[in-house]
Amino acid sequence: MSEYDSDPNGVEATSIAGARLVPHITIQAFCENAKTAQMIEQAASDRRMNKVALTTHNGGISAAIEIYRVNPTPNLIILESSLAAHELIDSLNELAGVCDASTRVVVIGHQNDVELYRKLIRFGVSEYLVMPIESSVLVDTIAEQFASESSAPIGRTIAFMSAKGGAGSSTIAHNTAWAISQTVRRDVLILDMDLPFGTAGLNFNQEPPHGLADAVFSKDVVDDVVIDRLMSKCANHVNLLTAPGTLDRDYDFEERSFEQIVEICQNNVPLVVLDLPHAWNAWIRHTLSTVDEIVVVAEPDLANLRNTKTILDKLKELRPDESEPILMLNKVGVPKRPEIAANEFGTSIDAECFGQIQFDPALFGSAANNGQMIAEINASHKINEIFTNLALKTTGRSDQGGTQQGGVIPGLLRKLKLA
Ligand SMILES: Nc1ncnc2c1ncn2[C@@H]1O[C@H](COP(=O)(O)OP(=O)(O)OP(=O)(O)O)[C@@H](O)[C@H]1O
Ligand SMILES: [Mg+2]
Repeated sequence: MSEYDSDPNGVEATSIAGARLVPHITIQAFCENAKTAQMIEQAASDRRMNKVALTTHNGGISAAIEIYRVNPTPNLIILESSLAAHELIDSLNELAGVCDASTRVVVIGHQNDVELYRKLIRFGVSEYLVMPIESSVLVDTIAEQFASESSAPIGRTIAFMSAKGGAGSSTIAHNTAWAISQTVRRDVLILDMDLPFGTAGLNFNQEPPHGLADAVFSKDVVDDVVIDRLMSKCANHVNLLTAPGTLDRDYDFEERSFEQIVEICQNNVPLVVLDLPHAWNAWIRHTLSTVDEIVVVAEPDLANLRNTKTILDKLKELRPDESEPILMLNKVGVPKRPEIAANEFGTSIDAECFGQIQFDPALFGSAANNGQMIAEINASHKINEIFTNLALKTTGRSDQGGTQQGGVIPGLLRKLKLA
């Protein structure tokens, strides 16, 4: 709803959403009254909410603040509040301090008050609904926020590429995706874009009959329904579009062959990890120029150093205004192998290494052979911290590990400062 009128739950909101499904988002609702909780649970069973993970909690905004001090925030928080305007704004301010920048907030209140509505919208709240409402009105509001033509794509795209074949970018991509699912607790979709040789299916012990090739070679229109059908869920919050891993056909693509698929994924899933092959061609160059974050994985030797420099220089040219690629050194400490030290590697190409991972053939070999992530093989292994740091960094949260709070200026707070 663009502007408030006499009816805050008006016709506009109910007619906009149409039948589009709400994407794979997480929603947490905080209710003061049982009736509201009931209405929200009813909304969760609406057909359009099939892909949504929704949980309801008792306790309103104060409970939300307590929970988000120590837990990651979902894509959407629904808050029921009967607080007076200034108290509500104060509480939202406190919530903003523990809230991730990308989280949106819908407030359900009990006062049909134009001034309050305007204040909340100015503050950065996505919508203010007044009880009593039908559950379908709430679904309309959510669909309008996340599934309408005008809603911004929810997905952040993170591409992983090796500086030299076999440096470990797929392994790091998959483990980072896993760490994202655990720390950020939002849905992640891994696109295995190495169609002839990709290992995402093997690494997650999945053998789905369909995957990314069905989308890219499809003669029919590919939309979110098709993508959902092709995706395989391999763990809580982790989804895959696997590569066929066969040589039954050639894999020659146009510059923009994957563009629309990536966009659909981005509209459908909050975090999209692109596992790119080690190659240089038009579609890889184009994909790299469009993603939000890039991780370059290199081994500490001369060929990797040369390639990293070439890749970083090219990326600077392709994306002058975007964030710098994140450089990871992998397979550090291979016995008897002469190596370039991490700081030397970084300074000689004027880049900073975000982290380094030791060569550990027993650990990585078992993980690969069992089709498991490192955290599944050994949850307390120190390497998991590196994946968690990378998860937080690539999703725009703190790069120091730990919880996300304080790592970014929360969206609500930033809006408040601008107001
Ligand atoms: N730190 C490590 N220690 C030991 N082995 C590792 C490590 N990291 C990755 N590996 C192993 O190295 C091999 C190659 O890894 P991976 O397939 O991730 O490379 P890649 O960079 O994706 O290759 P490509 O560039 O061809 O896509 C795998 O067998 C993997 O288990
Ligand atoms: Mg790979």
